[in-house]
Amino acid sequence: MAIIHLRPALPQDAAILADLGARTFRETFERICSPGDMEAFLLRTYGLSQQRAELEDPSRPARLLEIDGEPSGFIQLRLGHREPGVAGARPVELQRIYLLRSCHGLGCGAVLMSEALAVTEAWGADAIWLGVWENNHRALAFYRRWGFAEVGEHVFKIGEQVDRDLILARPLP
Ligand SMILES: CC(C)(COP(=O)(O)OP(=O)(O)OC[C@H]1O[C@@H](n2cnc3c(N)ncnc32)[C@H](O)[C@@H]1OP(=O)(O)O)[C@@H](O)C(=O)NCCC(=O)NCCS
Repeated sequence: MAIIHLRPALPQDAAILADLGARTFRETFERICSPGDMEAFLLRTYGLSQQRAELEDPSRPARLLEIDGEPSGFIQLRLGHREPGVAGARPVELQRIYLLRSCHGLGCGAVLMSEALAVTEAWGADAIWLGVWENNHRALAFYRRWGFAEVGEHVFKIGEQVDRDLILARPLP
């Protein structure tokens, strides 16, 4: 039986998160934009220095999930970050919840989401929200099962490609 382990992601994990983030993003979205636009976006968004800076920021807690010692997924949160349409005085953005495709459907998504909610509630948040591509059907089904509902939308651009992200939110007790 596989051993699933979750731990805080620290600045020294920047290379691991940069690699996981880029691999998962590519696996999930490679068909929606040109290879050139994709690589430029990945470098800008998941580059090592960018990732290290994010992990050094106390308002952006992150957790790394390992399966049998192999980095397989992560979450990154933004405490106090909001988007129009998100209700609540103290919201948290679930900026990333990423699992490699080979690890989907094993219950690891639930482990990551439970931890995201635990961190969010421990900070005293009254809402958690996220943006998701309108055609990411697997993620949408997953979020709806976790009680998220649509509250808005925004434009998401990768190079020349313009897409619509749905904003989903879930109030917290
Ligand atoms: C989002 C993510 C963390 C969920 O983890 P997971 O292990 O895949 O989640 P689960 O298998 O528990 O749930 C997926 C749900 O989607 C459903 N599903 C699978 N493929 C689907 C499809 N093509 N269309 C609609 N629903 C689908 C599954 O049946 C399941 O729903 P159910 O439990 O109600 O039956 C994971 O898929 C992931 O990291 N994806 C790639 C990165 C990503 O898209 N992140 C989110 C960006 S906003």
